[in-house]
Amino acid sequence: MKAVKTRCLLSIIPVITILVPLVLHAAEPEEIIKYRQNTMKAIGGHTAAAGAIVQGKVDYKNQLADHVRALQALTADIPGLFPKDSDFGDTKAKDEVWSNRAEFEKRAKSAKTNVAAFAKAVQGGNPQTIVASFKEVGESCKACHKDFRKKDD
Ligand code: HEC
Repeated sequence: MKAVKTRCLLSIIPVITILVPLVLHAAEPEEIIKYRQNTMKAIGGHTAAAGAIVQGKVDYKNQLADHVRALQALTADIPGLFPKDSDFGDTKAKDEVWSNRAEFEKRAKSAKTNVAAFAKAVQGGNPQTIVASFKEVGESCKACHKDFRKKDD
């Protein structure tokens, strides 16, 4: 009986040694920065692709809803991509992202609201409303970048 118990405990050790680092290990700031830049690139990709459809440059109307869904998911928590301690290194985020957090969160919320309105317009199917709401989405990206992202050098 005792032997079985010991064996049982021993068999758990490898599991613990694998799980503990996964839980306790905080992500490196560089990895967070890379992750958020890749996520922003994805947001940029879906916005540009949706724009090409909305403006009639390409005929992929059947994929518009997919881009909108992706945009809704990826813009749901933009501030979450900018945790404390991810403010140095290879990032274009300005210090204001952290020092003027309330305003930054307001811009993020406004982008989220505009993406939701765009999604509703796409569902509604009125081309004029779709174009107008898409423009609003673009404006909210610009509004945040203007004050919170460093210009390309
Ligand atoms: C609340 C602020 C905010 C909003 C809203 C926002 N962004 Fe950004 N975005 C940033 C910041 C800050 C960076 C710089 C991140 C870094 O370098 O660490 C960035 C970076 C980017 C990049 C460059 C990624 C790279 O490194 O290659 C793209 C592309 C981008 N955003 C697209 C968009 C689009 C499209 C929207 C609107 C749908 C949007 N963003 C909305 C703050 C925002």
